[in-house]
Amino acid sequence: MAEKTYPWKVAWITGASGAICGEIAKRLARAGVKVAATARPSERLDALAASSSNITAFPADVLEPEELKSCAAKVEAALGPIDLAMLGAGMYVPFDFRNIDLDGFHKTMALNVDGVINGLAAVLPAMLDRREGQLAIMGSLFGYAGWPGNGSYGASKAAVINLAESLKLELRGTGVDLTLINPGFVDTPLNAAYDPKKKLFVMSKERCARKILEKLPKRPYEIAFPIQVEGFLKTVRNMPRMVSFPLVRWFIKATGA
Ligand SMILES: NC(=O)c1ccc[n+]([C@@H]2O[C@H](COP(=O)([O-])OP(=O)(O)OC[C@H]3O[C@@H](n4cnc5c(N)ncnc54)[C@H](OP(=O)(O)O)[C@@H]3O)[C@@H](O)[C@H]2O)c1
Repeated sequence: MAEKTYPWKVAWITGASGAICGEIAKRLARAGVKVAATARPSERLDALAASSSNITAFPADVLEPEELKSCAAKVEAALGPIDLAMLGAGMYVPFDFRNIDLDGFHKTMALNVDGVINGLAAVLPAMLDRREGQLAIMGSLFGYAGWPGNGSYGASKAAVINLAESLKLELRGTGVDLTLINPGFVDTPLNAAYDPKKKLFVMSKERCARKILEKLPKRPYEIAFPIQVEGFLKTVRNMPRMVSFPLVRWFIKATGA
């Protein structure tokens, strides 16, 4: 079967050594897109770059804004203008209100929120100058509604969703588009600490990457799935809280989520 073609020549991906973004990097590379893969230096990142002549490792720490700016500049000097920037570095820590993991909370907020804004600051000025480019930000459906055990991760992804909404409104007419990617549970090391019985509608990283890449070329504002989780959490978000809290408690009791 012929490999799919995509509208991008150069894609910069942060979190590229991870499960979902690594899978996306490989699929784009197979289709001829030049992929700049960013994560902190590691064997995983080297192995990803070694897997395809279309993938080049550009190691950097997304928590270091200047390092990330220079990384994006190096990508453009080596591969050409970045026309897709996928900001995917992220982490999850469990949240126990009786014993709050402050360090985990701060690290999650830093990586999931600062990591995204640092990436935007690194790539957006050149895209705006060119009046062309697509930003793809990894959020999560769990940014839409509070959920037991999700105090750190959910708060960070809610911030990402709000940031994406603000940017989307402002980017109109600039030639730069933004897509927010909100998956539900994906079977990856990120959520290994999450109780497996509580993960509903889990999908593989392959299915997740396929669903993202099916829709991303059309430059939608949001790519969200699976529909069951999306529908439930967005409904909950829009309900009066006196209805949504009992509903969530009932749902958790009924499903074991
Ligand atoms: N898995 C899910 O269920 C799920 C659901 C919805 C959304 N998401 C989101 O999708 C994204 C990818 O998730 P995943 O499950 O594929 O995660 P993953 O496999 O754990 O990958 C995380 C990636 O982030 C990178 N990273 C961590 N700290 C970094 C830093 N300081 N600088 C640069 N890179 C850093 C990691 O590389 P190094 O540690 O080697 O630097 C790795 O490449 C995340 O934003 C996540 O929140 C995941």
